[in-house]
Formats: sequence, C-alpha cells, structure tokens
Amino acid sequence: MRLRALTDDDLDAITALATDGDSVRWTTIPHPYPPDGSRERLAATREQWRTRSGPLCWAIETDDHPFAGMIDVRPAPARWELGYALHPAARGQRLMPDAIRLASGWSFGQGAQTVSAYVVRGNWASRRVLWSCGFTVHPALPGWLPGRDGPPQDCWPATLAAGAPMTPTHRWMIAPRLEADGVALRPWRDDDVPREEPDHPAHFMAAPVPTAATFADWLLDRREAVAAGRAVHWCVADARTDEALGEVGLFTRAPSELGDEVELGYQLFPNARGRGVMGTAARLAVDHAVSDLGFRRLTASCASDNAASAAVLRRLGFREWGREAGVHDLPGGGTADELHWELPRAATGSR
Ligand SMILES: CC(C)(COP(=O)(O)OP(=O)(O)OC[C@H]1O[C@@H](n2cnc3c(N)ncnc32)[C@H](O)[C@@H]1OP(=O)(O)O)[C@@H](O)C(=O)NCCC(=O)NCCS
Repeated sequence: MRLRALTDDDLDAITALATDGDSVRWTTIPHPYPPDGSRERLAATREQWRTRSGPLCWAIETDDHPFAGMIDVRPAPARWELGYALHPAARGQRLMPDAIRLASGWSFGQGAQTVSAYVVRGNWASRRVLWSCGFTVHPALPGWLPGRDGPPQDCWPATLAAGAPMTPTHRWMIAPRLEADGVALRPWRDDDVPREEPDHPAHFMAAPVPTAATFADWLLDRREAVAAGRAVHWCVADARTDEALGEVGLFTRAPSELGDEVELGYQLFPNARGRGVMGTAARLAVDHAVSDLGFRRLTASCASDNAASAAVLRRLGFREWGREAGVHDLPGGGTADELHWELPRAATGSR
C-alpha cells in the first residue's frame, strides 16, 4: 500500500469513483458530476499541495490496484479532517484502514493533534473502517452534514488523538447465529419490519417497542450500541421460516462498553407469545453470554405483574434480589413494582 500524487493517468478512475452510487450516497462529491470534474480535481489538488492549503489529496496504490482510491487530509488549527473513498473495484478488500493509518500518521508528523472524520449516520462500512483504526466514534450530531436532495443528514463524528494506537479501542459486538428447538437468534435485517399488532402493556418494556414506522430508527439505535461495544442484539426468528418473532439482547445502561456485568432484555411480538419461544431464545443468549463472552454477572428486571417474564427468568436460574415499589402506573389505576433479578455466580459457573 502506497499513497502517491494523483496523475493524468488516474482521470478515468477518479470519474468512476466519483460517479459510483455509494460515493454519491455517502460523500459530498458533486452530483451530477461535471464533465471536467476529474481534471479540475487534479488541477486543484496540485495547487493545494503547492500552497499546502485546502484538502491535501493522495491516490491510494497497491500492487493489484494502480489506483485503488483517494484519501485527503484538511489541515486546520485544532483538528485535521480526513476524507476518503475507494474505487468500486477496490472495495471489500480491507484496503482503507492502512490508507487511513498512513494519512493520519503523516498528519501527526506534520503537527496535527487530532485527526477527525465526519461520517453520514448509517455509513457502516466507513464507521467500521474508522473503528478498526482506533478512532472513537462519538454520538450522532443531528443535521450536521448537507443532504443531497433532502434535509441535512445526521453525522457520526470520529476522532483519533496523536500517539493513540491505531487499533480498535473496544469490541464491536457481533451477534452470532445460534439455534435450538426451532428458534434461531441471528442479526437483525433491514426487512424485519414488525407487523402492526395490538401490544402488551407499555410498562412491561423498558426499551421502546418497534413499529413499522419506527423500526428503521429503532434498528439504527441498536446497531450503534453494538458498534460501540455496549450491547449484543439478536433478532429472535423462527428457525424454519426465518420470520422475525422478537428480540433478545445483552446490554449495559452505562455510556461505556460492556464491563463484567451485563443485563438481559427481551420481547416477543404479540403473535409469537405463549409458546415457549423466549424460554429458548433467552437460554441461548445467556449461554452465549456466559460460555462465549465470559460474563459472570447477569442481571434483568421486569414489572411485578409480568408473570410470563418472571417465569422465563426463573427457569433460566435467575433469582429475584430486589423490588422497587410503585414504579409503574397502571392504566386502570394502581401501580406495579419493578423486580430486579440476578443470575447467581454459581449458576453461571455451571454452564
Ligand atoms: C467507506 C469505504 C472506504 C469502505 O471501504 P470498503 O473496502 O468498501 O469496506 P468494506 O465494504 O470492506 O466494509 C468495511 C467493513 O465494514 C463492514 N460493513 C460493511 N457494511 C456494513 C454494515 N451495513 N453493517 C456492519 N458492518 C458493515 C464490512 O463487513 C467490513 O468489515 P471487516 O473489515 O471486518 O471485514 C468504501 O466503501 C467507499 O469508498 N465507500 C464510498 C465512499 C465513502 O463512503 N467514503 C467515506 C465517507 S465518510
């Protein structure tokens, strides 16, 4: 992998990169792309390097790809900003992390204290590349980046400090496929949109229950927690039909990555209740938490009038350790308590 100056030989490849659908979706490269766009870019780049002002852009070159893509840094007093894109033929080959490490290392050598990147919220390939280089991805800034044809877009700001190791600083909690007794746990898909059904009492769920209208945002929030190392989220699916039946997750309420304590949470869509699905799904999740992820302290909570949830927890070996009185106002009047549960260490040791 080398970073080198752009040349006239790169013009066609720059145009292919600039007009590709992902570049249009996720970058601010002009669209429609002007006929002389690449030649103008080359001229501007040469001038920017000569005067050391504006974006300082390199071509990315490997043995297999004479032009794999472009990366630039924009020097600024407080932080230097990265921009990057791969040629479509060079994607999916893990080329960008090394290019980012080279450009960031060069920037630190020139005096940058922080290198930053601003990623359109939802550009997962870009977020993961930054994560793999040790960047901290901060909570989304609403409406921070210009939209193409619509409203401004939310953005993930990411930063890397001078001297920080350029390797991940926390886990990205991938949800593996697990299966037992006709129930599968698998990652959520964009098309798992729940049907509209009458739901259970609102106070049974601490987390929002997704609807067709809220599902996309609900899923984005969950994927952000997964990427930040704060949760593992599975879709509970019918192992035969793959239909989404609900969710089970392991999470922390702290704003940091999962420590040694993890909370179990779950819900089934109404049509999937009453046939033992969650007993199996939660057991798969707890076994994975203990045996594969090494968690030793598992907790859970549920409303005191949620008998089905309490039964699931009891069957898994959880024991009730506390009760907060009058937490939930019931629709018909009166209140319900919140029950707190833990899986005793003896139970985790025997799994
Ligand atoms: C962003 C870009 C540089 C990433 O490079 P790439 O080689 O295409 O990246 P990949 O498709 O291999 O994805 C990178 C990683 O993200 C993961 N990923 C991709 N899509 C994902 C998704 N929807 N959810 C979770 N992870 C995802 C990949 O599995 C891969 O992980 P791995 O490295 O552990 O295998 C490239 O896609 C690109 O040029 N896109 C268009 C321009 C752009 O978006 N520039 C960045 C603007 S901020």
